[in-house]
Amino acid sequence: MTAQNRQLRLAKRPVGRIDDTTWEITTEPIPEPGTGEFVVRIQYVSLDPAMRGWLNDVPSYIPPVGIGEVMRAHAVGTVCASQHDSYPVGATVAGMFGACEYALSDGRLVTLVDTDLAPAPTWLGALGFPGMTAYFGITDVGRTKPGDTVLISGAAGAVGSIAGQIASLMGCRVIGIAGGPEKCSWLTEELGFDATIDYRAGSVGRALHEAAPEGIDVYFDNVGGDILNSALAVLRTHARVVLCGAISGYNATTPPPGPSRYLSLLVNRSSMTGFIIFDYLKRFPEAQAALGNWIRRGDLITREQIETGGIEAFGTTLNMLFDGANTGKLVLAM
Ligand SMILES: NC(=O)c1ccc[n+]([C@@H]2O[C@H](COP(=O)([O-])OP(=O)(O)OC[C@H]3O[C@@H](n4cnc5c(N)ncnc54)[C@H](OP(=O)(O)O)[C@@H]3O)[C@@H](O)[C@H]2O)c1
Repeated sequence: MTAQNRQLRLAKRPVGRIDDTTWEITTEPIPEPGTGEFVVRIQYVSLDPAMRGWLNDVPSYIPPVGIGEVMRAHAVGTVCASQHDSYPVGATVAGMFGACEYALSDGRLVTLVDTDLAPAPTWLGALGFPGMTAYFGITDVGRTKPGDTVLISGAAGAVGSIAGQIASLMGCRVIGIAGGPEKCSWLTEELGFDATIDYRAGSVGRALHEAAPEGIDVYFDNVGGDILNSALAVLRTHARVVLCGAISGYNATTPPPGPSRYLSLLVNRSSMTGFIIFDYLKRFPEAQAALGNWIRRGDLITREQIETGGIEAFGTTLNMLFDGANTGKLVLAM
């Protein structure tokens, strides 16, 4: 039987949590590369909280995925046919190839992956968008300095686990907020976080006053909601809140309430800055060099959780992010 290309397409816009009716799988012949093109056999697809936002028909930093379109996804794979000099057959590449088994590319926004430095899935995690987000969120947006007390929510996830380690390598005191005792002990015992708060175990506000009695200089926010509100209550003067994401509200069907403690920004002469990692594309080599050096030296621990099941498992795997069922970067093997 000739191999075919299966693709996951958006069938229906979800309200709240995604389910089986959100997607349809289509089958087509594997594309043939024209001059200046190549075909990638996808091996791993990245699952990202932002994907939930890309399904909403609302204005955002990127157009929504259209009904009938292949789901947008960062992925890594091997070139299996090529008419492009820079991407020969056998090369491992990462790019926005989509949730599919084979993708046609002209090389735009594609990275050649160095599997000697790190295995292919790490290029969707610490050396991919999550690592870039952690790096520029901590350095540029957070203007983090040695000696700062840095608080990170979603700390055991793809972005948070790298952001915390970068802050630690910069000489900061790092406090992580995560769900559950296993995640918290991974952060302190293996990643070098100084303290953790299990937000499912009790009051985050009280735990924060104990973990940071003199307050925090940087809050790297991945989750929004009540945890953001608690963090605002412990800002020091001239603190920086890095608005990276707000996963607690991504499945909400009504607008979540704003943080009632926002006046803490005024009282403490502090700032809260949102950023989109796509704005840093030109500077990715700088972050990849820094993160690559830390990985080579054994100073940065990277972790991917690789789920199986191929394209049929995309939706259930994506939902794992909203259940806190991942530690480190969540990836689907195709
Ligand atoms: N600004 C940008 O350009 C940019 C780029 C990439 C990612 N992001 C954002 O960064 C954040 C983290 O992304 P990621 O890829 O690293 O995902 P991730 O942290 O690997 O996975 C999501 C984690 O969020 C936590 N979570 C889920 N629901 C929650 C809730 N209601 N309250 C508190 N925590 C909750 C879960 O961990 P627990 O078990 O700890 O609950 C889950 O494991 C997301 O908000 C994402 O949108 C932003």
